[in-house]
Amino acid sequence: MAEVILQGVSKSYRDTRAVTDMDLAIADGEFLVLLGPTGAGKTTTLRLVAGIEKADAGRILIGGEDMTSEPPAARDVAFVFQQYSLYPHMTAYDNMAFPLRSPARRTNENVIRDKVRKIASLLRIEHKLENKATRLSGGEMQRVAIGRALVRDPSVYLMDEPLSSLDAKLRTELRLELKRIQRELGATILYVTHDQIEAMTLADRIGVIRDGSLVQLGTPREVYERPHDTYVASRLGSPAMNLVPADALPLDAAPASAATIGARTEHIELTRDHGSGATIERIEHLGDQNHLHIALGEHKLVTLADPLSDLAVGDRVAVRLQDPLLFDNAGRRIAETA
Ligand SMILES: Nc1ncnc2c1ncn2[C@@H]1O[C@H](COP(=O)(O)OP(=O)(O)OP(=O)(O)O)[C@@H](O)[C@H]1O
Ligand SMILES: [Mg+2]
Repeated sequence: MAEVILQGVSKSYRDTRAVTDMDLAIADGEFLVLLGPTGAGKTTTLRLVAGIEKADAGRILIGGEDMTSEPPAARDVAFVFQQYSLYPHMTAYDNMAFPLRSPARRTNENVIRDKVRKIASLLRIEHKLENKATRLSGGEMQRVAIGRALVRDPSVYLMDEPLSSLDAKLRTELRLELKRIQRELGATILYVTHDQIEAMTLADRIGVIRDGSLVQLGTPREVYERPHDTYVASRLGSPAMNLVPADALPLDAAPASAATIGARTEHIELTRDHGSGATIERIEHLGDQNHLHIALGEHKLVTLADPLSDLAVGDRVAVRLQDPLLFDNAGRRIAETA
């Protein structure tokens, strides 16, 4: 495994700036997740590291070597593509064995068999190994594509939303499995997703990207607790962080520059209060949790309902805030002074 460094990397497609001046260092053995919405430049970043796309500016180093002008084959990366890209006429087994059979690697067939079986079992596709790729479901194809990368021992794994076409249960299982495999192999992984739960649970560090630029890099906890701005803050947390003007709720000792309050469930305390102007407008039952929608004048708050509370639609509540985040009028978080 190896460290990967991007220095001032940019890439435009005609008038679209897909990636802008990206500086990023992924440590040897690190699981780094880039989190961003659709069109943010996630796939482009991976394609640049893989060498499938050529950077307009900047440098890319893998394992200390300047790879900026090197072709993909020289870069020793294993890529799991967003759209699974299996050889349709081959079985799942042969698809997974394929990289190990390349003339450059020439691995013994017994070694290949052990490796493919082991990874297939981790990915729960052992029973489908003899199926042709065309006779797999989308989620199975995606697991074979992940497996094809994991049988290798590259400098770095590049993974483009590899769990997105799986059902929720399998996604949760494979998330845990992937994290375990990564620890076991000591693998360096650059993983991109728009899914905040994947980012929070898989990453050693999360890089949040917006319009091709890295806006914050830190541990999941840092990014969650100390987001630089409202953009980062609203990407993490479920239900999403409530952003309301600073005068919409009473604040203790707020700095004068506070323009916006960022309140997550853990910052919100509700008590019944018939005289209050805040009303429970809707209760959304999601199965494992309930979301309370609260009307607060012209503003709305969404928070998790305490499972034991008997609050009902139409009830009036007082909203108290406990150490919410505060942002200035440019949307930047105001750091706590303590
Ligand atoms: N080959 C291309 N030609 C022109 N524009 C492109 C090309 N590939 C990507 N783009 C543009 O570059 C920007 C970043 O695209 P990219 O595929 O990296 O986004 P993404 O973060 O992976 O999004 P998604 O979550 O939808 O996969 C987008 O505006 C996209 O339209
Ligand atoms: Mg993409």
